[in-house]
Amino acid sequence: MTILLTGGSGRLGSALQGLIPGLHAPPRAALDITHPEQVLRALRAARPHLVVHAAALADVTRCERDRALAWQVNVDGAAAVARACHATGAALIHISTDYVFSGDTGHYRENDPPGPPVNWYGVTKLAAESAARLAGRSLIIRTSFRTRPFPHAAAFTDAFTSQDYLDVIAPHVAQVILQASRIPDATLHVATARKSVFDLARQSRPDVRPATRDHAPLPLPADVSLNTDRWQALRAPWETGSPAQSESASGAQGRAAVHGEVLHGDVPRVV
Ligand SMILES: NC(=O)c1ccc[n+]([C@@H]2O[C@H](COP(=O)([O-])OP(=O)(O)OC[C@H]3O[C@@H](n4cnc5c(N)ncnc54)[C@H](OP(=O)(O)O)[C@@H]3O)[C@@H](O)[C@H]2O)c1
Repeated sequence: MTILLTGGSGRLGSALQGLIPGLHAPPRAALDITHPEQVLRALRAARPHLVVHAAALADVTRCERDRALAWQVNVDGAAAVARACHATGAALIHISTDYVFSGDTGHYRENDPPGPPVNWYGVTKLAAESAARLAGRSLIIRTSFRTRPFPHAAAFTDAFTSQDYLDVIAPHVAQVILQASRIPDATLHVATARKSVFDLARQSRPDVRPATRDHAPLPLPADVSLNTDRWQALRAPWETGSPAQSESASGAQGRAAVHGEVLHGDVPRVV
């Protein structure tokens, strides 16, 4: 089963390649998502059953500064990938973010109406979700992660999140990719428990200083924590080795394990 990954050189893309052997991850020189004809050519050549779209302009400050580029990469790029999936019959897993929500209430469920995002990155990623649906068969994963240790000297005590470190989140995303044929939903929240960004930072950087969002150079949401009930219910049988999982393991030659192991699996069909 062929899986093509965009953004393979990025943080999440690199982690996914470490977890799922055999991912086909063309570099930007071979698959620039801002060139739709190149995207289509790459998919026609690789003939993937599934495309995992992780390429984006993910630097929130840069998106604010260079709005046209952010739209071109995040929205037009996502549309190019989705259209190429539709044209070649590939299913799409699109990586999205908690920043599609306003952050006014937190505890967001998949069916809660997203928006209005408080910054341009969020605007582009929300539009990208609509673009991703052009693929026909698509699954949108909303998630959020940080590299370990926390990369900044200060962290916000008044920003709440369900994000976690990449070494925690990436294995879960990999598991979703490998179990995609079993996921009936169009959108899935993959995250951990709600906490402040400061509390998350302190886990890996005990000397981190407290700060507040009014010191940020751009608008940041107050509480974009995600409800993950849907994902928890889906993954319970995968974790416990229920009959459903055994069937998957033999029928699809799949083994979905988390917590940093290399994952092996086969993806016969997604959504
Ligand atoms: N980081 C977070 O906190 C976070 C949170 C929630 C969701 N996400 C989402 O997760 C996904 C991965 O994020 P990340 O943090 O791993 O990103 P990242 O480390 O910034 O990597 C971005 C990737 O996108 C590629 N890319 C950029 N422009 C491209 C283009 N025009 N054509 C092809 N590839 C291009 C980059 O390739 P080059 O190496 O060639 O530049 C790189 O591989 C994104 O969809 C992001 O929105 C991220």
